[in-house]
Amino acid sequence: MERLQKVIAQAGVASRRKAEELITSGKVKVNGQVVLELGTKVKPSDEIEVNGIPLEKEEPVYFLFYKPRGVISSVKDDKGRKVVTDFFPELKERIFPVGRLDYDTSGLLLMTNDGEFTNQMTHPRYHIPKTYIAKVKGIPSKTQIIQLQKGIKLEDGMTAPAKVKMLSLDKRKNSSIFELTIYEGKNRQVRRMFEAIGHPVLKLKRERFAFLTLDGLSPGDSRELTPHEVKQLRHLSQNGNQR
Ligand code: URA
Repeated sequence: MERLQKVIAQAGVASRRKAEELITSGKVKVNGQVVLELGTKVKPSDEIEVNGIPLEKEEPVYFLFYKPRGVISSVKDDKGRKVVTDFFPELKERIFPVGRLDYDTSGLLLMTNDGEFTNQMTHPRYHIPKTYIAKVKGIPSKTQIIQLQKGIKLEDGMTAPAKVKMLSLDKRKNSSIFELTIYEGKNRQVRRMFEAIGHPVLKLKRERFAFLTLDGLSPGDSRELTPHEVKQLRHLSQNGNQR
């Protein structure tokens, strides 16, 4: 017997958290009956339907995707804008992004149909390092850089310590470029951190996710993760990460 939300997540329909929302909002039926209880246990022979569609178990697939700017980290958009799954037109598995990057942010985004994996990679408890290159307006002072490193107050709490390095500065254009590694994933975190010190982000790219890089890929490209990479990522999330 398994918990209903776990079964839905493993079937590749949604992340565990999203699966819980589907249950509590009455979108899930087990053997023809709507189930609203999150702890419900199901057995393999139970017929599960999500939004009226029977659940089928898919083989898990894992991709590293170089998200271009101007693309939504979602599987569909009401306004008809380009979404990340548009870049996988041939794929039969129903993949979704692992976390998200803003519309205007480019860079490394994992995509999978494995909801449990998504949960492991995005849960704040697991501290997966994510490295960004940010071009910001103006030239932050040493004190401001230390503030970013130590933690800065945002409206939803303090940020955890981060690694921050200035890569270059352009006095004439009044901008500078930073490499920043964070270990959590608050909404629009990098942009809000720089906004908080008065140096808004002009351009943002995620260069690394844990040990993974964008090497050899151009915006819009993707590649499958190797089984070893998937294993390593799971291992990282289970064993914590050295900051
Ligand atoms: N931080 C941001 O501000 N935006 C992203 O897309 C990712 C991290």
